[in-house]
Amino acid sequence: MMPPMGWNSWNTFGSEVDEIVVRETAAAMMDTGLLDAGYRFVNIDDFWQAEARKDGRLIWDSEKFLSGIPRLAADLHGMGFSFGLYSCAGTHTCGGRPGSYGHEAEDAKAFAEWGVDFLKYDNCYLPPGLDGRLLFRRMGMSLLGCGRPILFSACEWGRSEPWLWAASVGASMWRISGDIDDRWDSIVENGFRLLADLAPYAGPGRWNDPDMLVVGMHGVGNDEVVDGTGCTDAEYRSQFALWCLASSPLFIGADIRNLDKKSLDLLSNTGAIAINQDVLGIPGRRIGIHEHGGENAEVWSRPLADGSIAVGLFNMGNQAGRRVSVAWESLGLDVGTSLRVRDVLDDIDLGLHHHEFTGFVDGHDVMLLQLRHEKNMN
Ligand code: GLA
Repeated sequence: MMPPMGWNSWNTFGSEVDEIVVRETAAAMMDTGLLDAGYRFVNIDDFWQAEARKDGRLIWDSEKFLSGIPRLAADLHGMGFSFGLYSCAGTHTCGGRPGSYGHEAEDAKAFAEWGVDFLKYDNCYLPPGLDGRLLFRRMGMSLLGCGRPILFSACEWGRSEPWLWAASVGASMWRISGDIDDRWDSIVENGFRLLADLAPYAGPGRWNDPDMLVVGMHGVGNDEVVDGTGCTDAEYRSQFALWCLASSPLFIGADIRNLDKKSLDLLSNTGAIAINQDVLGIPGRRIGIHEHGGENAEVWSRPLADGSIAVGLFNMGNQAGRRVSVAWESLGLDVGTSLRVRDVLDDIDLGLHHHEFTGFVDGHDVMLLQLRHEKNMN
């Protein structure tokens, strides 16, 4: 019911994904503690398939996946992971491999037999004149009937407002936008701009998906996703904090085998993950935009099941050490309330505050806070 967490092969490996990469990544997820932190899915994106169907059946590329998909899935299950695959609603996938159009029920059955737990379903090469929503419905219904619970992830890029209908065809998450790049502008466009409007449509078992995390990529990966040197550490912190506040699925796109320490610590941050996975499942809302000198700061917040409140203070501009405040009144609280403030990412108690809290936030950085009523402290 809570936002799925894991790794997806696309951002780093694109068409080069193979069994070795997947096995090494899973081993690295165990060694680094990411599996224990909750990153349970190992998902192969496009390019696992052979170039053509065989006797009408979808088959894997046997040169890249020597042991075969069912063996790989079984081994990953044995390590404690869930396993995801990718297909497409059209005749071909976006990368030109066979799509599931016209084969929905038999492909869903094959996925079930192979031990698939998650299906990302893409939106390329739809036959002209057909309503894409019907094709997503077909696969959604086929998955329901395939005899195995398979989480359905609709990758429709937000084209026909999937937040209005994707849950009704069985999807647990839906892309709200085109592909994310390892670039601040892309995080702003896919994340901050769209999630601000779409928060009301998500909740337990139905999540807005602003695409993968680019945290830790540093400009290394699939050239459809990387652009130059990638984001700064501050920008990665902001992406992670926003995705956690928004209850968005957390799929790491970086090469986990070569993740730098700062990115690993960020992605493993237990306080931020707890906000993302909070059982109320109320996605954060943008409650304020503050303009100063032509640059904005944004304040986001969400209530949590234990009665505390998560708040993100984001400096969207370049100014170093910008003051960003959240007033209790804007959170719906009595101005006289005393709240204990915790910096979640840096794991620091910032003391007791009245009326408001002001942080100093560097360019494109964030302060992710958790505010507790003093009586809740033990
Ligand atoms: C589309 C999707 C991406 C990725 C590629 C694979 O662009 O939006 O996330 O799955 O296809 O070809």
